[in-house]
Amino acid sequence: MSYKKFFPYFKNSDITYLDSGATTQKVQSVIASELEYYTDYCANTHRSNFGDANKATIHYEESRKYLQKFINAKDSSEIIFTKGVTESINFICSSFAKNFKTVIISSLEHHSNIVPWHMQGRSLGDGLEVVGYKDNFAFDFDEFERILVKNPNSFVSVTHISNAFGTINDIKKICAMAHKYDSYVLIDGAQSLAHKKIDIQDIDCDFFAISGHKTFAPTGVGAVYIKQELLNRVEPYQTGGATIKTVTYNSSTLLDSPYKFEAGTQNIAGVIGFRKALEFIDEVGYEIIEKQEYRLYEYLHNELKKISEVVFYNTTKETISNKSFNIQGVIHDDVGILLDKQKIAIRVGHHCAMPIMEKLEIKGTIRVSLAFYNDFDDIDIFIVALKRAIKMLKD
Ligand code: ALA
Repeated sequence: MSYKKFFPYFKNSDITYLDSGATTQKVQSVIASELEYYTDYCANTHRSNFGDANKATIHYEESRKYLQKFINAKDSSEIIFTKGVTESINFICSSFAKNFKTVIISSLEHHSNIVPWHMQGRSLGDGLEVVGYKDNFAFDFDEFERILVKNPNSFVSVTHISNAFGTINDIKKICAMAHKYDSYVLIDGAQSLAHKKIDIQDIDCDFFAISGHKTFAPTGVGAVYIKQELLNRVEPYQTGGATIKTVTYNSSTLLDSPYKFEAGTQNIAGVIGFRKALEFIDEVGYEIIEKQEYRLYEYLHNELKKISEVVFYNTTKETISNKSFNIQGVIHDDVGILLDKQKIAIRVGHHCAMPIMEKLEIKGTIRVSLAFYNDFDDIDIFIVALKRAIKMLKD
């Protein structure tokens, strides 16, 4: 079954969309719920006490509860809405994590999990450690343990799924090892929730950053999960309206979580829409989503393998959604331009992961990023267009 019919973009566009790692398309019910909020009951949440304001607050808080259950968090106070993963990481970086002597990241991080640490004055070997990888970009647990032995009580911040190469990290194992050395773990789940079931209690991470717009929901909405035991130890990184119990000219007292962390008017429509995206995933089921994605990924890999000029960086083992490669003797940007002319939407470049590109001694890659709404026809169309592009660039 094709799920494209649930996404208006595919009705209105003749583009072959293979850039879901950048943003996913939005479900009809998500768009309808945003429209409904703006046209039928547009009012602020947690402030005024009239009908539409109360309705908006109820819907907003229902989204929080839905997300809590969706990821199997213990309590809805552990779910803090943010603008997205970048804000979630910046929040934890500049509050809870700032006092740790050492922050440990992996070599496959997106810039949003590198730059905030640099801005804190950390550099390699001076407050920041990077775990390397083994074959097929597998997280190097031996090196991780060596770093933890030397630096117990650190803050570990790693991606679940690489946005550039689709590598899936064993985050449960990462958390268990980090906790053994009294360290805390933030998981960057930007590329996860659209592709894999998340069970927070099973993973046992301390923080988990979530993206709405990469999970079929609106842009400008995301969340960060904070483990209940840590909620009182995390300082808000911004304060203001709706975060306080009392304010005098002399001092302020804050509300409990999640409210003390959500300063100012939130992306109310986005949060309400996010729930619709999660409901849609529940209706489809992760079993179907994962199965379809693995089949597509393998098909894409096998079709690319038939093109002799393709240079791969990893196999299909422990990878999902994002497939990166290059074409021998051809600049990736040129391929991107020629694919765009053929109405294929992919991303070329460093994918906001410059350090791993540098390590591989490349400037960037051609990335195909799949979601479960893609089908085999999308891949066939892409392969024909890619061959045409290669021919034009080589002849
Ligand atoms: N992080 C997004 C990507 O990988 C924007 O394309």
